[in-house]
Amino acid sequence: MPDNAESTDVLFSPLAINQVTLANRIVMGPMAAVSPRPDGRPSEQTIAFLCERAKGGVGLIILGGTTATRRAYEESPVKGTLRFDDDRYVPALKRMTDAVHAHGTPIFAELTASFGTMAKPSDWPCIAASARNLVIKPDTLPQGVIAPFEVTTAMPREATVDEIAQISQETAVAAARAQRAGFDGVEIPAMMSYFLASFLSPRSNWRTDEYGGSVENRARVLVDIVRLIRERVGASFPIGLRISANEHVEGGQGPEGFANIARHVERAGLDYVALTDGNYERMDASISATDTPTVAHGEAKIFREALSGPLLIGGVHGPGGATQVVSGGHGDAVMLARPLLADPEFANKIRDGRAPEIVQCDRHNQCLRRMTLGMPIRCTVNPRMGRESRQPGSLPPAERLVKAPVERAVLAASGNPRLMSLVGKLAKKRS
Ligand SMILES: Cc1cc2nc3c(=O)[nH]c(=O)nc-3n(C[C@H](O)[C@H](O)[C@H](O)COP(=O)(O)O)c2cc1C
Repeated sequence: MPDNAESTDVLFSPLAINQVTLANRIVMGPMAAVSPRPDGRPSEQTIAFLCERAKGGVGLIILGGTTATRRAYEESPVKGTLRFDDDRYVPALKRMTDAVHAHGTPIFAELTASFGTMAKPSDWPCIAASARNLVIKPDTLPQGVIAPFEVTTAMPREATVDEIAQISQETAVAAARAQRAGFDGVEIPAMMSYFLASFLSPRSNWRTDEYGGSVENRARVLVDIVRLIRERVGASFPIGLRISANEHVEGGQGPEGFANIARHVERAGLDYVALTDGNYERMDASISATDTPTVAHGEAKIFREALSGPLLIGGVHGPGGATQVVSGGHGDAVMLARPLLADPEFANKIRDGRAPEIVQCDRHNQCLRRMTLGMPIRCTVNPRMGRESRQPGSLPPAERLVKAPVERAVLAASGNPRLMSLVGKLAKKRS
């Protein structure tokens, strides 16, 4: 969607999500770029990273890189997550939410229940709606992320009804914990091929019990979680759902199917829906190279018609695109991820008429490549990103001084298409 000269004022009108009022329509989407402490608590860097974005004027922060259950923590494919699976994490999380609130910004917590087939090997059995794994093809990856060969994920076992009930309960308990830790709302992530997402599409769910088959049955796990959370947090605490609009694969579920699921969950007491795209089989759709793909391809319209509550649209990289989403009624707010790594001041610069000064995300996705390689997230156009807590002019910690050159070498090698193609050919020969 091209930038144009339309007034950006529409972005700075308030938006109510249940009892929480956002000052504007620019939301920071969840990102595992929060550098937690090794014990799963927020670090000084976590707080500095979030506060810089709050100061930069976003109307809401949705905290990513989180785990709601012990299982999710142990099996997380992302190195280091913020834990919500025990009361002992509440005081440190509260210190973090207090720091964000000092800037007048509300903060919601994304609560990942389990990673399903994307789980890394751990003591926990890998489970999903049905025993279906993924084959991730190199040509479905976002630009800049190069895999030399297909990746086949772990084969999950079909989750038992007891396991589903336990994960649902634990997620609800984590939501109540988030509320006690000062969060203003919670978001249930059911996208990116994770455990909850595996229930939503007939392609990944062929159960014959009450969790499979009809739309009602495939939505059941989410309906149950929303009800369980609502019982614990009360009527006025916002609960959101993060859901993919489209699988974008042959025989996969399209927007009508996903919107039907979202409508069912909304009726159970949901306050908003955050729309993403694709999944791990089409990561090029999830981490898009173009602006607002779900608006451009019509998925947002289908969700708009199916739902009555606020709709958050992702994949926006410029003020023009953001304005068009809201003024065109495609969504009630825009949800930005990479653009806020590139420029935490994105919202303030638009508000103050300084939009041309916005530092644009280059979409080369080094941030993502670093994440997949287990390295701390950095941004190629914003050298301060990931180092917000460091005093200007101070030296990096000794550990970083040692690791940084190695990381640079690994990044250079893994970002070289010819080298990666050679690695792919060698691997094929050996197999
Ligand atoms: C480094 C990085 C980490 C991410 N971590 C999460 C996460 O923890 N949870 C989540 O739901 N999405 C995560 N995402 C996806 C983003 O929230 C967003 O959907 C995606 O980047 C597309 O939006 P954008 O074009 O604004 O970047 C992550 C993306 C990036 C680049």
